[in-house]
Amino acid sequence: MNRTYLRIPVIKAGNPEQEGDYRLGFMDLTILSGRANRALARSTAALLDAGLGRCKIEEFPDNELRIEIQENLRDHDVYLIQPVSPPVAENLLELLMLADACRRAGASRLTAVLPYLGYARQDRRYGEGEAVGGRLIADVLCTRFDRIITVDLHNPAIEGFFSIPLEHISATRLLAQNLWPLITEGSILVAPDLGAVKLAQKYASLLDLPVAYIHKVRVSGEKVRVSEIIGDIKGRSPVLVDDMISTGGTIVSALDALMDAGARKPITVAATHGLLVGGARRNLSLRPVGKLILSDSIHLQNEGHLAIERISLDQLLARAVERQHTEIE
Ligand code: R5P
Repeated sequence: MNRTYLRIPVIKAGNPEQEGDYRLGFMDLTILSGRANRALARSTAALLDAGLGRCKIEEFPDNELRIEIQENLRDHDVYLIQPVSPPVAENLLELLMLADACRRAGASRLTAVLPYLGYARQDRRYGEGEAVGGRLIADVLCTRFDRIITVDLHNPAIEGFFSIPLEHISATRLLAQNLWPLITEGSILVAPDLGAVKLAQKYASLLDLPVAYIHKVRVSGEKVRVSEIIGDIKGRSPVLVDDMISTGGTIVSALDALMDAGARKPITVAATHGLLVGGARRNLSLRPVGKLILSDSIHLQNEGHLAIERISLDQLLARAVERQHTEIE
């Protein structure tokens, strides 16, 4: 699997940005990782029977990065694994610097594997004069990569921001498999806001559960308020699902509202992306959360007092890489 016969773009000598014609030939597979989530990159590479390609990432005293790929990537099909997670600006720049280094080291095809894509919530302008961060990030990535593989985008419409092929993987089925043993007769799926309704319906159909919805009003970046719960949750065991937990504001206010409305404790929570910034860990640990299930799209330094069940995305990512690497163009 590690060699595949493909159309290889002929890069015009001396200018990595200018593509020439194509020729047919073999491309070797190389997996590289930035520093944002090496554990996930390592286990994904291992499933593909590959190690991580050698590269050196250093920081100068003034905070500038220096990146050096320490192998020849000529005729290689390179997959660069890096979530665009906090610290977002640093991880994004590192990803772009790595891409530049790969091109200059001769990579024939370069794919960004983004287990989490930051800025995806900025998919439109909410007020005059606002930047559309999601579009900007997409534009920048398109200048350096040939393809993108990503997982559970906050808004699937973001796919349209990319002018290069993008494979959008869903972790819903994987997380649902891990929720299955926790489901009881009184379980009910709950969407913590109207944006999560489709996601909750998907989980509900996989787990064969009814759905309730919460109407959330965002007061500030960290604070949200529940205005209404649609559905009868009294005496039932809620399973709260969302695409991401950032400050925890959305989930915490949903937990409080569910408890006030007479839901049964403890409550199960699942999300693909656990950023857990600000007071998220503390605030969640003060609520009756039975189990918090998160994927490992984002590396967490310290899980604090929270009991988190982490489900690895390595198999999903490895399968996507294998598909792309072996597909004949
Ligand atoms: C919002 O639409 C998202 O799906 C999440 O509910 C939200 O962004 C999570 O952020 P936080 O944890 O800060 O409330």
